[in-house]
Amino acid sequence: MQYWPQRTEAEWPLDRRSSRTVAALRRVLARLRRGGKAVALVPTMGALHEGHLKLVRLARRCADRVVVSIFLNPAQFAPEEDFATYPRTFAADLAALARLEVDLVWAPPAATMYPRGFATRIVPAGPASVGLEDAMRPHFFAGVATVVAKLFLQCRPDLAVFGEKDYQQLKVVARMARDLDLGLKVVGVPTVREKDGLAMSSRNVYLTAQERAVAPTLYGVLTLCAEKIAKDRPIGTVLAEGREAIERAGFALEYLEARHADTLERVRSAKDGKLRLLVAARLGNTRLIDNIEA
Ligand code: PAJ
Repeated sequence: MQYWPQRTEAEWPLDRRSSRTVAALRRVLARLRRGGKAVALVPTMGALHEGHLKLVRLARRCADRVVVSIFLNPAQFAPEEDFATYPRTFAADLAALARLEVDLVWAPPAATMYPRGFATRIVPAGPASVGLEDAMRPHFFAGVATVVAKLFLQCRPDLAVFGEKDYQQLKVVARMARDLDLGLKVVGVPTVREKDGLAMSSRNVYLTAQERAVAPTLYGVLTLCAEKIAKDRPIGTVLAEGREAIERAGFALEYLEARHADTLERVRSAKDGKLRLLVAARLGNTRLIDNIEA
C-alpha cells in the first residue's frame, strides 16, 4: 500500500507545495491505472470503523485498484461543531487499510485542499435542500460537495463508494456527479450496525456508557415505524408516535421524517413511492443520525 504524501498533516510545512502534491498523486494514480485498471475511491474523514471497511471491501470487489482518502474536512463543520474533538486515529486507520490491501491512501494536508486564497464553493440544491440535515447544518452540504468534488477531480476514479448511513449525503453526491458530468459511478452501501442495532459512527466514541445503552432506541423506533407503515397505518400518526418514543427515551429530537427514497421530497402516503425514514437526534452532547427503508 502506498501512502501519499508520506508525512502527517502536522509535519507538512504550510508552504506552496499543494499543486506539486496533487501532481504527484496523479503520477502515482497513472501508474496504478496502467493497463486500463479501474479505480474506486472511498472518501473518509478517518477514525475508521467496520462501516468504512465495508465500503473498502465493496470497492475491492468492484474495481482493480482502491484508493481511500482520509481528510478531516474543516469546511463541513460549523464553528460550534466538533471539528476540534473529532477522533483522529491515523496510524490505526493506515494499519486497517493495509490489511485490506488498499492500493493508495490519499491524506492531503489542509493547505493542499484549501490553499491560501481558496474561493470556490459548490452549493448543491435538490436533495441538499429538503429540510433534513440541510435545515440543521446549513453549512454542511456545500462543505461536503466542495471537498468531494475536489477529491473526485484529484483522483478521477471510475467509481466512488458512499454509505447509506449518511443517506442524504449519498443522494447529494450522486446528484452532483450526474449534474457536473464527473464521469464516475456513485455506489451506495447499506449501513453497518452494532449487534444491538446502533449504526456504527466515528462519533459513537463520544457516548457515555449510559447514553450508549440508550442509543440503539433510534434504530428500534425506525424499525417499529417501518413495520407500522407496512401495515398501512397513516404516516402522520406513525411519525408522531415515533417522535414521542424518541423523546421519551431521553433524546433531543431534531427530525424524524418519512421521505421519498430517491428525491427525499415530502410524501403524503406510502403510495407515493418507495419511502425512507430518516432521523437525527442528540443524546447529551452527541448528535446521531440514522435511516432505514420503509
Ligand atoms: P465519514 O463520516 O468518515 O464517512 C465516510 C463514508 O463512510 C461515508 O460514505 C459514510 O456514509 C460511510 N459510513 C460511515 N458510517 C457507516 C456505517 N455505519 N455503515 C456504512 N457506511 C458508513 O461522510 C464523510 O466521512 C464525509 O462527509 C466525506 C464524504 C468523507 C466528505 O468529507
